[in-house]
Amino acid sequence: MRVLSGIQPTGRFHLGNYFGAIRQYIALQNNEQAFYFIADLHALTTVRNPADLQQYTQNAALDLLALGLNPEQATLFRQSDVPEVTELTWLLMTVTQMSLLEKCHAYKDKLARGIAADAGLFTYPVLMAADILAYDSTLVPVGQDQIQHLEVTRDLAQRFNHIYESEVFTLPEAHVLSDTAKVPGTDGEKMSKSYGNTIEIFEPEKKLRKKFMAIKTDSTPVEESKNPDTDSVYQLYKLFASTEEQDALAERYRAGGMGYGEAKQALFEKALEYFSIAREKRADWETRPDDVEEILRIGAKKAREKAQQVLQRARAACGLSAKPASP
Ligand code: ADP
Ligand code: TRP
Repeated sequence: MRVLSGIQPTGRFHLGNYFGAIRQYIALQNNEQAFYFIADLHALTTVRNPADLQQYTQNAALDLLALGLNPEQATLFRQSDVPEVTELTWLLMTVTQMSLLEKCHAYKDKLARGIAADAGLFTYPVLMAADILAYDSTLVPVGQDQIQHLEVTRDLAQRFNHIYESEVFTLPEAHVLSDTAKVPGTDGEKMSKSYGNTIEIFEPEKKLRKKFMAIKTDSTPVEESKNPDTDSVYQLYKLFASTEEQDALAERYRAGGMGYGEAKQALFEKALEYFSIAREKRADWETRPDDVEEILRIGAKKAREKAQQVLQRARAACGLSAKPASP
């Protein structure tokens, strides 16, 4: 079994990314064959500043390592370090029906908002299919929002196999991540970069406290009973606390006499404690950029070895020379 997933470096990772995706990828790494990559080619469809892209990509590697991705167990690499994937994208593109891509959310949503989409966004799902198929991936952990892309991947793999009467591509299954329900942002809506309501995992301590303190709450007076189930502070607290701690705080909400400020302080302290080891690890990785680069280099080498085999199968199946001519 090969587990594979990618995450876009489009900014600093936030609590939604951690609980909704990263934590679950890391939990799957004990599987011998876990491949995780930083999807920098996909990020190009939104990040247009080269310095930002470099910074986000580097940060993504540091964050993942600090949060527990173990390079001895999982293979970590940058998407753009495996050029076989972009070649495979073209082969897949030749069997992709326009109508299939026209149905895809990212493109459809942009169009609905009257924004002109470029071909990169339109063909985004084909690049994602190549990412998955290049490594004979069998299990792809993804959030709800990516299920459609997995369906496209399976569709393209089947179409290619059918047209060329071959078994070139392995059909992957989606492993849908439990959406630890949608992690709420500081305004109570789903936490997302697009809504400007994020709390970044590795925010400096002072800023982190400020963000927690700024979470929107209702105006129930201190003395009155409060409903934990509809409050974002409590929803976030639940992610970090034990069941006993959750019950104890819920009890205090219902009893009245506790202000939201106190709950926010408790949340801040829990979050700090929860990520304390990751914070130490991150500070350490930060001082070792060469080691991080080496991990990515070794990861890309391993990923390329696999991708080259699959690409050769695909080239041969469709009548291209099985190996590109050497220069
Ligand atoms: P953003 O919405 O900030 O741009 P991304 O779309 O890059 O975040 O998120 C990458 C992955 O992180 C998603 O596929 C999803 O699995 C997870 N994720 C992001 N935000 C949340 C959230 N608020 N709650 C749960 N999971 C989330
Ligand atoms: N599109 C995914 C996201 O935004 C990232 C991604 C790119 C990916 N290629 C992938 C995820 C391949 C899983 C498999 O979250």
